Amino acid sequence: MDSYINVPVAPLAREARRTESIKLYGPDAFEGMRRAGALSATCLDGVTDLINDAPPLADINTFVLDFAATHGATPATLGYEGYEYACCTSVNHVVCHGFPNGKKLRDGDIVNVDVTLILDGWHGDTSRMYAVGKPKRAAHRLIRIAHEAMMRGIQAVRPGARLGDIGHAIQSYAQSERCSVVRDFCGHGIGQVFHDSPNILNFGQAGTGPELREGMIFTVEPMINLGRGDVKMLADDWTAVTRDRSLSAQFEHSIGVTANGFEIFTLSPRGLDAPGIEIETVPV
Ligand code: MF3
Ligand code: CO
Ligand code: CO
Repeated sequence: MDSYINVPVAPLAREARRTESIKLYGPDAFEGMRRAGALSATCLDGVTDLINDAPPLADINTFVLDFAATHGATPATLGYEGYEYACCTSVNHVVCHGFPNGKKLRDGDIVNVDVTLILDGWHGDTSRMYAVGKPKRAAHRLIRIAHEAMMRGIQAVRPGARLGDIGHAIQSYAQSERCSVVRDFCGHGIGQVFHDSPNILNFGQAGTGPELREGMIFTVEPMINLGRGDVKMLADDWTAVTRDRSLSAQFEHSIGVTANGFEIFTLSPRGLDAPGIEIETVPV
């Protein structure tokens, strides 16, 4: 059945391996993830400033490369399974893994920027939606729903809950808003390995799947479409787009399971977690 392994002292990053069993980490790992997560979130904060000028996507790639270099970090996507960029930029009907190449952003575009920086061996994986100029109401609405879907998934996380509770929270909310969930991609365990087990599905049944335990570390990253959930791969073998060309939106946080619930490692230091939308800030 489900198996877990304790990782009381994290191995050297170069010795870290993807495993079938779910890793349970201790305080040192959480501290490593806090630092890597904060750095990736700070990088996305910088992208906010850039977006206003509707730059070519290549400028976002250059920004992430420079940011990583000046902060002693490495972009995990660079060279990952042949991927050649420091981040992914997915515009409008692009679901995920869009190349940050020469194309220029235009007024009204919505774009997801997905960054994973490796700092001292730990991976901070996070993405946000950005609005260029004034997108249509439907685009804003989709961004708001995608962010809320991610947060509902995260809020299902606590020791004793099941993996299926996360997917159920995401799916039932998205569908209640007449949007669909992309089933071809999912969240993942993370730490010193970029994509580790378990898969964090964005749909599912409550009360099913492996039990969540304190010390687990993974991403929650639902992709939500205004139209149908089906995707198509472009000829470059990376870029996934919606089959019906409807708009798609995604947010991603890296989180850890704590004794009482969860800790988000990739919160924006500047409170820009959902820059594409106006969200109410809840006083703490
Ligand atoms: N950052 C993506 C994720 O959230 C993975 C991108 S892999 C790449 O897991 F190679 F396309 F960059
Ligand atoms: Co991820
Ligand atoms: Co990511």
